[in-house]
Amino acid sequence: MTTADPVATASELLIGSKNPDKVAEIQALLADLEITVRSLDEFDVPDVEETGESFAVNAGLKASVFALSTGLLTVSDDSGLCVDALGGDPGVYSARYAGEGCSYQDNIDKLLENLKGVPSDQRTAQFIAVLACAAPDGSVRFTVEGLVEGYITDEPRGTKGFGYDPVFYYPPLRKTFAEMEPEEKNRISHRANALGAFRETFLQLRT
Ligand code: IMP
Repeated sequence: MTTADPVATASELLIGSKNPDKVAEIQALLADLEITVRSLDEFDVPDVEETGESFAVNAGLKASVFALSTGLLTVSDDSGLCVDALGGDPGVYSARYAGEGCSYQDNIDKLLENLKGVPSDQRTAQFIAVLACAAPDGSVRFTVEGLVEGYITDEPRGTKGFGYDPVFYYPPLRKTFAEMEPEEKNRISHRANALGAFRETFLQLRT
């Protein structure tokens, strides 16, 4: 006897993130899928330490723990900034680049300090987001990646967004992410691209 694939048959999908901004963004982009979307704040679940050395491992770790503790098909994400001149740093350490408990501003200050003297054409960077989908038994069924390319500015510009947005310049719109309206950023961001890929794979597996 073969067991039905949980991605194909699940009637509910849990968004495994404790960040309300991300939950809202993911919910909006998955709204028309024929599945009931559940949120983590309905459950008492453990915190998951992001101990992996890649975004995919961390996203899988979170999806797996949340799926196991709720019994639901779960999608979780991990994301960060990779700067070419710094060998891909801060990467998976993006949130705590300047140390545990540091602020977004501390991270930006450290990044700009480490890039001092690097000419603008060598300040290329990518925001990367990975989404992992885990079955109720904790097994990771698939992961997808989204990416957006840009440059790190010499100084912060703009007040919108969060994290490294004020120093991430996106040439096609000639703005940093912090100078964009949220809807503008959400059309082209790494997370939007990852969600597009997630939708595609998810829909394929459900047909
Ligand atoms: P996490 O995916 O919540 O672990 O986020 C990791 C870190 O990457 C965040 O704390 C930010 O510093 C950075 N980051 C991820 N996505 C973005 C973004 O869209 N804008 C700015 N910073 C981001």
